[in-house]
Amino acid sequence: MLASVVTMPARAQEAAPTVAATLHADTPGPVIHRDVFGQFAEHLGHGIYGGIWVGKGSRIPNDGGYRSDVIAALKAVNVPMVRWPGGCFADEYHWRDGIGATKSRPTKVNTNWGGVNEDNSFGTHEYMGLMERLGAATYVSANVGSAEPAETAQWVEYMTAAQGTTVLAKERERNGHAAPWKLQYLGIGNELWGCGGNMRAEFAADMTNRYAQFAKAANGKMLKIASGPSDSNYDWTDAMMRIAGKNIDGLALHYYTRPRDKKWSDKGAALGFPEREWATTMSHTLQMETFLTRHSAIMDKYDPAKRVMLAVDEWGTWYDPTPGTNPGFLEQQNSLRDAVVAGLNINIFAHHADRVKMAAIAQMVNVLQAMLLTDGAKMVKTPTYWVYDLYKPWQGATSLPIELTSPWYHKDEVAVPAVSASAVRDTAGQVHVALVNLDPNRAMPVTVSLAGLQATQASGRIITGTAMDAHNSFDAPDVVAPQPFTAAQVAGGTLTVTLPAKSVLVLDVR
Ligand code: AHR
Repeated sequence: MLASVVTMPARAQEAAPTVAATLHADTPGPVIHRDVFGQFAEHLGHGIYGGIWVGKGSRIPNDGGYRSDVIAALKAVNVPMVRWPGGCFADEYHWRDGIGATKSRPTKVNTNWGGVNEDNSFGTHEYMGLMERLGAATYVSANVGSAEPAETAQWVEYMTAAQGTTVLAKERERNGHAAPWKLQYLGIGNELWGCGGNMRAEFAADMTNRYAQFAKAANGKMLKIASGPSDSNYDWTDAMMRIAGKNIDGLALHYYTRPRDKKWSDKGAALGFPEREWATTMSHTLQMETFLTRHSAIMDKYDPAKRVMLAVDEWGTWYDPTPGTNPGFLEQQNSLRDAVVAGLNINIFAHHADRVKMAAIAQMVNVLQAMLLTDGAKMVKTPTYWVYDLYKPWQGATSLPIELTSPWYHKDEVAVPAVSASAVRDTAGQVHVALVNLDPNRAMPVTVSLAGLQATQASGRIITGTAMDAHNSFDAPDVVAPQPFTAAQVAGGTLTVTLPAKSVLVLDVR
């Protein structure tokens, strides 16, 4: 291990004002749905091909065509749900291209992502096989932009109709799967305001009503997720909820963090960035709090009972692509900065657990803020992966309110609160506290008053490092990885800890 939690550069040890927090273990909040820790896997670059699916004949160790190393790593963080096949890809995808004998499947061009050939060797059966291996919930995005509602209706029937009933159920059986699959979520198109068809919100809402009407799962509840806003497009949320709110179970929100957010052609580098871009990355990430608050408030107008979820089914960092790679493949390295971004976003989702009941980081393997990177037979776990590992107890846990007053981190004109927190009581009754220090220079002394909790000790694991862009590579895979953390004290109902600069700490409080 190259990174150490004890050896910090001198500035990291500079004294900072104390962070004062109160954990209210006696006034529990809503349950954090495990699908908030969902993933997104699109037919994009090496997200599927090479990253997950190598085919049965591959020299890369595999289980029926799925990479064994990738499956094992994803299972280890309890991936609860995977959204597929897109993204922009979804609104040009025709599900019939991806069923039947692999050799007979048509090759098409992936017009959204790099203009490469798509041979459709990964289709519905292969996706469902992946979900079975992971024990994950299914989330399929239907083509609304360039296909008729009957195509969606038939795809849902193909997946869910009982064995031996309809023509499509029998076709599924001939293709190797007699039993129906459970389809937990159906996406009604993707980004209908953009790559999904450049629609106006009112038109998209009418389309949503139409497609939702005819998509009927034969084997139980299937939650219908409408294509929602990106960022601060509050008018979109208002129109969707007003026109289609009664016919949907969720509204998707997409928001990507870019260090430079003026032009998509100049987003900033994944590595070797200046501190100013660390700071803008943090301040842009924290906008998620405003977006969730304001979209939720609009949804409350039409749905005060909070029946319709806000599904943040695309979020994460988006940098300039790794030099020398196909820019359409959206490949980027993942550093300690991404780990801090992940911790901040998960804390925000936990604070909005009453409305945010599903989310998907973009994307699971090799694309944007990935969990895993692969190159041929090699695989490496990213700092973001390790954040998901730390936050496993949050899946299905009860949120506990935690109030916090934080000092500010300043860089040039950027000023953001340095410390963020969330807390949960897991399904076994154990309390966990997550603390994120986004200040890259200063350690933060933190005191947490424990209301309604008799505790005597706290220990856990931390992710930190010396460089802002500390990262794992195929040659050095363990530079950023969780380390045991035993430097927290609990006495007289107060938890005291000094949170190292640029760190994500998860403590079990006993
Ligand atoms: O995740 C990459 C792309 O970002 C998705 O295909 C699209 O939905 C979004 O714009």
